[in-house]
Amino acid sequence: MLLTYNLNETWRWNLDHAPDIAPLLKSGKVESHVPLAGRNWNWCGIPTSSSLGIPAGPLLDSRWLLYYAAVGFDILVYKTVRSVARECYPLPNLVPVDSTSLATAGSTVKSSKSMHGSWAVSFGMPSQSPEIWRYDISVARAALPEGKVLVVSVVGTQNAAITDKQASLEQLAEDFAKCAAWAIDSGAHGIEANFSCPNVSTADGQLYQQPEDAGFVAACIRSRIGDAPLVLKIGKVNTAAEANQLLECVAPFISGLAMTNSIAARVADESGTLLFDGQPRGICGSATLDAGVDQIQLFRKALLKSEGAESQGASQHLHLIGVGGISTADHVTRYLNAGADSIAIATAAMINPGLALNIRASIDQ
Ligand SMILES: Cc1cc2nc3c(=O)[nH]c(=O)nc-3n(C[C@H](O)[C@H](O)[C@H](O)COP(=O)(O)O)c2cc1C
Repeated sequence: MLLTYNLNETWRWNLDHAPDIAPLLKSGKVESHVPLAGRNWNWCGIPTSSSLGIPAGPLLDSRWLLYYAAVGFDILVYKTVRSVARECYPLPNLVPVDSTSLATAGSTVKSSKSMHGSWAVSFGMPSQSPEIWRYDISVARAALPEGKVLVVSVVGTQNAAITDKQASLEQLAEDFAKCAAWAIDSGAHGIEANFSCPNVSTADGQLYQQPEDAGFVAACIRSRIGDAPLVLKIGKVNTAAEANQLLECVAPFISGLAMTNSIAARVADESGTLLFDGQPRGICGSATLDAGVDQIQLFRKALLKSEGAESQGASQHLHLIGVGGISTADHVTRYLNAGADSIAIATAAMINPGLALNIRASIDQ
């Protein structure tokens, strides 16, 4: 029986009860997995044994990260960290919902007593202090073999005392860049900057919806991490025009995009009372599968068009990471066919940590 995240306990409790990874290490490292056939799998150009990743969220520290590496995941994103320690929102952090399909943000969904594949996620991007996570990243990197990639998700923390808009943006960008530089210094292969968190109401949560600000922050991060891969995690984008506008502002500074973070919705209980003080929360899991696949297709089309418009071969290939609702090998194939270069699974992998091995087995048949 594989250890799973305890849904009824806090983020802190789950950190304190992380898997014991000592039995999983051989000569200090997690074992690598046989490369999956099909393509030269990679994350932003760094070779990996498969397309299978865990996005920012389930991997709270090096022990959770190495545990999932040991059970067949190759692209491992360390849960979003900050330049200052921050606690998690109070329980419940994970509320199952009834919704079967969500296309756009803004609806209200019903909570459910049992899990049917989707839940509302309410963490608020907690973080351990930089002293702790910087050391912990070096521990994770040291135990990863060839074929497995360590990505660190970072977010800037706004100083609420700064009221001038430009000064506030500069402070936010600087804070993002500081975390990114620290993560690279600690051994991360690359950075994922979280430009979308539906569960925080400040600008740091919704940068992807402000393309010029997003470009400013991405440029600042790029200036501090040399050539290391930089991916932006974004939320729901609905139109080609929005996709183009965002790409125009951020593409010069980034290596890829991860999408879709989740789809924001309000959650009501059986009696119709709104949970979370009526604030929206990110819905993750199976209800977001179709929307996630559509969004990969939208961005791949936009990229192909812009690549075609530039002189042949001169434009960069942006790595697209498909996230949202994956729980089977067929779902992985849908994302790859839609134009994703790699994929990541949070909800289904938290419920079943053996999922990557199942997917590998069914692809190998
Ligand atoms: C428990 C949990 C915590 C999460 N925390 C983060 C986070 O810290 N940063 C982030 O960018 N996304 C976070 N996410 C969103 C996931 O990275 C992912 O985008 C989302 O869950 C959709 O994938 P899924 O349908 O496979 O769950 C979290 C998701 C879950 C389930």
